[in-house]
Amino acid sequence: MGRLTNKVAVITGGAGAIGLTTAKLYADQGAKVLLVDLNEAALKSAVDTLGANHASYFVADVTNPDQTKGYIDAAMERYGKIDILFSNAGIEGKVGPIVDTAVEEFDKVMAVNVRGVWLSLKYGIPAMLKSGAPGSIIITSSIAGLHGFAGLAPYVTSKHAVIGLMRSAVKELAGTGVRVNTIHPAPIEGRMMRSIEEGAAPGAGTQAKSAFAALIPAGRYGNPDEVGNVALFLASDDSSYCTGGCFSVDGGMSAG
Ligand SMILES: NC(=O)c1ccc[n+]([C@@H]2O[C@H](COP(=O)([O-])OP(=O)(O)OC[C@H]3O[C@@H](n4cnc5c(N)ncnc54)[C@H](O)[C@@H]3O)[C@@H](O)[C@H]2O)c1
Repeated sequence: MGRLTNKVAVITGGAGAIGLTTAKLYADQGAKVLLVDLNEAALKSAVDTLGANHASYFVADVTNPDQTKGYIDAAMERYGKIDILFSNAGIEGKVGPIVDTAVEEFDKVMAVNVRGVWLSLKYGIPAMLKSGAPGSIIITSSIAGLHGFAGLAPYVTSKHAVIGLMRSAVKELAGTGVRVNTIHPAPIEGRMMRSIEEGAAPGAGTQAKSAFAALIPAGRYGNPDEVGNVALFLASDDSSYCTGGCFSVDGGMSAG
């Protein structure tokens, strides 16, 4: 029997590096997974990889209330319940100092990374309570939710903000059996870090990567499955006494 046998999971940002890798880990452990993302072609190929008996997809913009309600309703209609909500969609925004950042850029990052998570809770919590305990909500924050980084203020702000959402939800869900936690990855191999490296040092992304890696005691970036395995622990009943936690997955980067 798998660690997630008979469980249903919704994963936003499900076509991205961390979301899709986690979906594979969840499906391998017996869960049915609904992948939510913007890009239908990427979602379709993700479901092809996972197998239609393990996964399906829903195209949605997580900043949109109707589309959020749409993906929650779709999970309930297709699978009858939601046990696990992995609110993981996120964008990095443009790299640059606060004084040079456009207001629209700040708003865009906050819309996806904060409003999107808040909407997933607003519409996801009633469905999870209807589904019955135990339930697990996992929010992808970042090392940037625990520390400041120059040039990434909107992202850093958004990733701090979701800790507040998580802590509020923990209190509102006290006694229900639905747990809520955040995970805090350091730089992880994939598209997002290529974008941040290039933004920090245009034309010299490789040097930027070495500089970032030098800040990590493990001496390297993490891999998506190293985040996914923590998201699997938090989704499973192995973490039955874990709620309100900030789980670092960072090769020691948050040690200071
Ligand atoms: N990659 C890293 O180094 C790193 C480190 C710490 C935290 N994180 C966080 O992990 C999460 C996943 O990141 P990733 O590395 O897999 O990046 P990624 O870019 O590979 O995946 C993010 C996914 O979110 C989707 N998305 C973006 N905006 C959306 C929207 N409005 N509606 C629906 N989907 C949307 C994208 O299409 C993409 O598939 C993000 O919240 C990110 O901030 C990443």
